[in-house]
Amino acid sequence: MKTQVAIIGAGPSGLLLSQLLHRRGIDSVVLERKTKDYVLGRIRAGVLERGLVALMEEAGCADRMHAEGHVHDGTMVSFGDTMFRVDFAGLTGTPVIVYGQTELTRDLYAAREKAGGKIEYQVEDVTIHGADTDAPAVSYTVDGAARRIECDFVAGCDGFHGVSRKTIPETVRREYEKVYPFGWLGVLSETPPVHHELIYANSPRGFALCSMRNENLSRYYIQCPLTDAPGDWSDDDFWAELKRRIPADMADKLVTGPSIEKSIAPLRSFVTEPMRWGRLFLCGDAAHIVPPTGAKGLNTAASDIHYLYNGLRAFYEDGSAQGIDSYSEKALKRIWKAERFSWWFSSLLHRYPEQTAFDLKMQIAELEFLRDNSAAQQAMAENYVGLPY
Ligand code: APR
Ligand code: PHB
Repeated sequence: MKTQVAIIGAGPSGLLLSQLLHRRGIDSVVLERKTKDYVLGRIRAGVLERGLVALMEEAGCADRMHAEGHVHDGTMVSFGDTMFRVDFAGLTGTPVIVYGQTELTRDLYAAREKAGGKIEYQVEDVTIHGADTDAPAVSYTVDGAARRIECDFVAGCDGFHGVSRKTIPETVRREYEKVYPFGWLGVLSETPPVHHELIYANSPRGFALCSMRNENLSRYYIQCPLTDAPGDWSDDDFWAELKRRIPADMADKLVTGPSIEKSIAPLRSFVTEPMRWGRLFLCGDAAHIVPPTGAKGLNTAASDIHYLYNGLRAFYEDGSAQGIDSYSEKALKRIWKAERFSWWFSSLLHRYPEQTAFDLKMQIAELEFLRDNSAAQQAMAENYVGLPY
């Protein structure tokens, strides 16, 4: 088989790239290790920056997002019984859209299917060949049969556990990592959200987040030890602990119900450099991970796709290699800023096992500064709604 761009991974990064390229007449094949249902079964954050919204529009996949997504003009931050609002729209002129990653991925699948896009599921043994030559190829097996795709470029959109990153030789690759000493226990429940905007809570008992998917679907999280398992937490225990971590008036209003999903996610910051090796480009979780505080995972993937898509377009439409040559540098510049924001916001809101009394005072001083200082709020808001591409 021959194509212009071989894309490994049918998560949001791979699907968005494939759909954007299709709209410009650039051919791609997407290879996915799992099934579509498996990919759509993953529950991830759902806060979209303006840049991602614009990409979904350019991809022709924005109708349902605009109809069913919720525009959020700000967010709440609480510590103890104090709660304040950061006004994104007032400070930056830009809101965010709350729309689940699962729904966005579903829209991208629908668009690829409608356009007759090529996606191979349940592929195994994906191997990238000749990424440092002008004629790369990808081999794989499906149903026990060996296949090979000759291509111009390979986009490694295969997440943190994929093969693409590891294809870059260790002599070239540098990895930077911070592992946080706690996780997030998340619960999805068919209950109305406690508040119309998100609440990020710092409490003496640890972090909590009140988020949502729609009017009758809430997503809540509490910080928990990494040694906990979801089965250790009954629904009642979860609701009781969440109520202890949010302001009393919110706890009183909280509507509880049975959980329809319960899981624990570890928190990690990770970046690999460079994001390009020859004709192989890493995008999204294949190249970097952020802790979920601030919901930058999907949004950082989107900025990579923006740079790569425009680089490939310039290559095929204008014969210019400038965009693809500068891909790694441009993508990483923005990634490190999003890493900084996610690390800062995580540091502001969680309890760390090794935190000293002095560290706790610093956290409270920083929260009070954010509450009282409009320049601090502006900096937070600009990062939250998304720095420009
Ligand atoms: N071969 C083929 N496909 C693979 C392989 C492989 N060897 N390894 C992984 N994959 C697939 C996974 O099954 C997954 O569907 O690649 C896809 C990667 O998707 P994601 O992990 O969702 O990564 P990405 O598309 O970059 O999306 C980034 O999703 O993971 C969240 O927090 C992240 O919100 C962010 C966004
Ligand atoms: C979510 O709704 O799952 C969510 C929202 C905001 C975050 C993280 C997760 O910062």
